[in-house]
Amino acid sequence: MEKDILRVLISEAELRAKVTELGEKITADYAGKSPIFIGVLKGCFVFMADLMRHVDLYCDVDFMAVSSYGGGTKTTGAVKINKDLSRDIEGRDVILIEDILDSGVTLSYLRSYLQRRNPASIKIVTLMDKPARRCADITADYYGFNVPDEFVVGYGLDYAERYRNLPYIGVLRPEVYS
Ligand code: IMP
Ligand code: MG
Repeated sequence: MEKDILRVLISEAELRAKVTELGEKITADYAGKSPIFIGVLKGCFVFMADLMRHVDLYCDVDFMAVSSYGGGTKTTGAVKINKDLSRDIEGRDVILIEDILDSGVTLSYLRSYLQRRNPASIKIVTLMDKPARRCADITADYYGFNVPDEFVVGYGLDYAERYRNLPYIGVLRPEVYS
């Protein structure tokens, strides 16, 4: 896999430090509450697993699976729900966990979809924010890193389902997808 990576954008040590910081911030902000963490599959799985271990709260975990990308590197604009929540979120404090906020289409769709189920609150946590490509009106409540407009993989993020198991965030060589 390494040969397909142009450069390391965020190292394992940087990820570890930031994820610890985010977990501690969420723990402090939600003191006395029992939020439900909803991960957006599949990209969230590595980040979420690490983040949760730095959250010291009674909480539950659920997942949704959506697709918007097909096999390419650009969003299609359409969001399809492939797996819905397994339980009710009415009156709950929802924390949505995403790997990267790019155009914002996925999260703005999900946020209004979840809003209709009457949670007490919804906040968005994203490991990375790519503000250059935003077209939907959405900002993250918590984010780890601002990233440039390059296609990144690793730490849960894929290109055509590959590279999710890289332990760092890397920029993919353009010749891999062109
Ligand atoms: P959005 O709807 O454009 O914000 O798309 C968000 C989703 O697109 C993320 O959850 C990722 O699955 C995917 N995505 C966006 N940018 C990248 C990237 O640089 N690498 C890998 N996946 C990406
Ligand atoms: Mg994703």
